[in-house]
Amino acid sequence: MVNIKSFYHAYSSTISYIVFDKLGGHAIIIDSVLDFSLSSGKIWSEFADNQIAFLKKNKLTLDWILETHAHADHLSAAHYLKSELGGQTAVSAGITKVQQTFKQIFNISDQELLATGDVFDVLLSSEQVINFGQLSVLVLATPGHTNDGLTYLVEDNAFIGDTLFMPDGGTARCDFPGGDASTLFDSIKLIHNLPEETKLWVCHDYQPNGRQLNYTTTVAESKRDNIHINGKTSKAEFIQLRQSRDENLAVPELLYPALQVNIRGGKLPSAEPSEQVFLKIPIKQNLFYPEK
Ligand SMILES: [Fe+2]
Repeated sequence: MVNIKSFYHAYSSTISYIVFDKLGGHAIIIDSVLDFSLSSGKIWSEFADNQIAFLKKNKLTLDWILETHAHADHLSAAHYLKSELGGQTAVSAGITKVQQTFKQIFNISDQELLATGDVFDVLLSSEQVINFGQLSVLVLATPGHTNDGLTYLVEDNAFIGDTLFMPDGGTARCDFPGGDASTLFDSIKLIHNLPEETKLWVCHDYQPNGRQLNYTTTVAESKRDNIHINGKTSKAEFIQLRQSRDENLAVPELLYPALQVNIRGGKLPSAEPSEQVFLKIPIKQNLFYPEK
């Protein structure tokens, strides 16, 4: 039997999931979050600790710590969870491209980080199956928002990351490096081709128009009601809509901190000789010193 416990991280509007087979059995965590204050630089683990407490209370063994993609809006708690509880961390094999891209942007040395995915225990490919207790996860590649997007299918529950949001939330942006609206359209079609009753569990809910938090829908509902793409939307229509929206979206507040930590599997950069750890922000100088 599939048991699902959701955890909502209000600051980043992220929903993280613990999936387990039975009390006293085996579990996976999908998309956990490390708490972070941009203004103070403080990092803490209240959110992940709540998940750890849930696992301990229910005597669950954590087998897998999974990411649907390299997130740009929150820091992953994968490394912290592994250090506290064990389990294997896993992401898409596509993470190596994300690492390559952001290694260049942040000028990270090979000594500091190789773009081989070796900071994760397992790199996943589409159609791969991983097991926990009496359950298994079918991995489906669903790129487009990023090039490393994965959907995790546990029986009739699809954890779809940032492909689709709730029907009134539409779809995820495609303007990050490696993002592509045409590719996202194909990934959404793959999700929409799952059986109609398949439950879709989203990674974010921004509560449009102030409605109550909600993070699960079905393939049938998504195909019928999603405001960006329904069963009849053509690829050209979707690309046009997605690209015109992306042109006007702000950069996520935690983009640079999140990517620096998440391409390291949730580890922080090495400390400087003073033992202080820093995160970088690439400066676009021409914005601050315009020609007169
Ligand atoms: Fe995302």
